[in-house]
Amino acid sequence: MSTAAELKQSDNLFIHPWDDFVKLGGHQRTLLDRGAGVYVYDSEGNRLLDAPAGMWCVNIGHGREEMAKAVYDQIMALTYVSPWSMTGPAAEFAARIAEQSPGDLNHVFFTTGGSTAVDSALRFVHFYNHLRGKPNKKKIIAQKRGYHGSTYLGGTVSGKERDKSNLEMESHLVHHIEAPHPLYKTAAMSDADFLDQCVANLENMIAQVGPDNCAVFVAEPILASGGVIVPPEGYHQRCLEVCRKNDMLYLSDEVVTAFGRLGHCFASEDVFGIVPDIITTAKGLTSGYIPMGAFLVSDRLVDEIKAKGGDSAVFSNGFTYSGHPVAAAAGIKNLEIMQREKLFEQARDTGPYLQQQMQTLRDIPIVSDVRGLGLMACVECELKQGSNDLAMDYEIGKLIDKHCQQLGLIVRPIINMCVMSPPLTITRAQIDDMVSMLRQGILLALAEIESAEAAAAEVGHKHPSPAA
Ligand SMILES: Cc1ncc(COP(=O)(O)O)c(C=O)c1O
Repeated sequence: MSTAAELKQSDNLFIHPWDDFVKLGGHQRTLLDRGAGVYVYDSEGNRLLDAPAGMWCVNIGHGREEMAKAVYDQIMALTYVSPWSMTGPAAEFAARIAEQSPGDLNHVFFTTGGSTAVDSALRFVHFYNHLRGKPNKKKIIAQKRGYHGSTYLGGTVSGKERDKSNLEMESHLVHHIEAPHPLYKTAAMSDADFLDQCVANLENMIAQVGPDNCAVFVAEPILASGGVIVPPEGYHQRCLEVCRKNDMLYLSDEVVTAFGRLGHCFASEDVFGIVPDIITTAKGLTSGYIPMGAFLVSDRLVDEIKAKGGDSAVFSNGFTYSGHPVAAAAGIKNLEIMQREKLFEQARDTGPYLQQQMQTLRDIPIVSDVRGLGLMACVECELKQGSNDLAMDYEIGKLIDKHCQQLGLIVRPIINMCVMSPPLTITRAQIDDMVSMLRQGILLALAEIESAEAAAAEVGHKHPSPAA
């Protein structure tokens, strides 16, 4: 095994997601080498509270021996099963998921992660409409600020403009509407007006594209990496009604929100009161121990395809690792742990507590918003009110992250926001600790900026630049 120094050197050859190629080889990334519960430890032995649970995924916490044993046992029993012609533990996992899923979403298609789940689900939507004799019904309506993955189609459906630069998109297939962000609620609007406006965004887009061309609306229950945007109450229900009226499907992207993040196995029905046609999931599905994703589809759609398919209706889509037995074994054990330890119930208790504690950060001068639901929270900072300076925003996110890590906390900086989505096992005392370190991290970042500003003012510079 490589030493820590060798690993840091070799990291120059590892192209990371969202890597900046101009800086390739020059990054100083934290090297993590072990984890236990809500904590991870860096190569120097420092303990860090893992507030983003890796990347919204380590829902049962790090270092579970039972998970290692389940994976080991499956590898020793049988490493691989071809999902084309054979079956194995994935069949049991599908049944366990169906027990938890809303309504009649009882059929499960396994993938390798969230992006492939979204991509496969959208291909399924097209497949369904072809079989219904409606091949023109193929347009996808999604939300600005949404994130749905990094496959060609997932990247197109995602709604963050800055992530599209220098890349090609399947733009002819996708139309984006404004996210239901409270930012767009003016002082003159009532809650009902704002909800109407958000729903009208969808209706207007369908009218513009033409209902006969529109296949599906894709939405995250809460826009996660878009900045933990919680829609106004009733939004998903109203959008589902619009879909029904226009013969469109509703795809709920629960890659982040499923498996306990909002206190339930799936959030669509239990938190937002809808039974969508399709749900995509990943991350908490195996708590990140082994890569896996899935989409769930309603019996209604399956039955319709069966009826329309004639002699044969082959869905020519799949992966060598669809329903991989080792991933399925990990998923079964993960769900068993969640149920045995009542982690969804725990999250229903700690979620509101996290939100309450996060709100205490509002007294910090640069904190412009604190929002969230369940075990998803976001603190947004603004250096100069309404400045809209992206470089400045990136600076503040990076600085808070740097100070938090020195204090023993990992946050997920997204431009000027810090996102928290801890393991479901987190206790109230650990939440207190997390929020206290976050407060100190923000204050230290602010102090560093102020002293850089003061130094710059002394030498007459216009734009201070604190060392990130
Ligand atoms: C809502 C949502 N959908 C899809 C994805 C893509 O998942 P993956 O990174 O596993 O491919 C993500 C990833 O963060 C996500 O947040």
